[in-house]
Amino acid sequence: MKDKIRMKTSLSKEIHALLNTQVALEAKSSAIYLAMAGFCDQLGYENSTEFFLIQSDEERQHMLKIFKYISDVGGTPISPEVTGVPQEFGGFRGVFEAALEQEIEVTKSINEILSAAYKQGDHATANFLQWFVKEQQEEEFTARKRVELFDIIGEEGIGRYMIDQKIPDISPPESEAEPETIP
Ligand code: FEO
Repeated sequence: MKDKIRMKTSLSKEIHALLNTQVALEAKSSAIYLAMAGFCDQLGYENSTEFFLIQSDEERQHMLKIFKYISDVGGTPISPEVTGVPQEFGGFRGVFEAALEQEIEVTKSINEILSAAYKQGDHATANFLQWFVKEQQEEEFTARKRVELFDIIGEEGIGRYMIDQKIPDISPPESEAEPETIP
């Protein structure tokens, strides 16, 4: 049987490469969140462990979404090598600060691809990335709120225990709620 021949793609070389780089970044985010779950588990924070496990799954879904898009538009998605995953995060607060920094890095990367897509008139990719713009806005918001818990509750006494209890309760901003339809 003949190998399937890949047809031409409308993706430019640059966008193609940027999207594959994003696949790798999402895969790394997933691996780092998994490491964060292990770190929190070692410290005995059950809710935070569960939270980071869910985040790790979500990032893998993001990776697959982009992987599939590249394939759907006739490109060649690359299964990425993931290296340099940290296993230590400088304490309970440190792990949430690292999570926020990671989300900011991902947002910047999405914006970079989006700008390139607009510049090249690649409307399909620009349209596809809108989902990620909204997702990143939510993830950055909630990651920031989780770091703020450390200042609001404080880490003394049972503070860290209380913070761990509150971690699953943080939800996206009100402005992200579906708008009411105007009659
Ligand atoms: Fe998929 Fe929040 O990065």
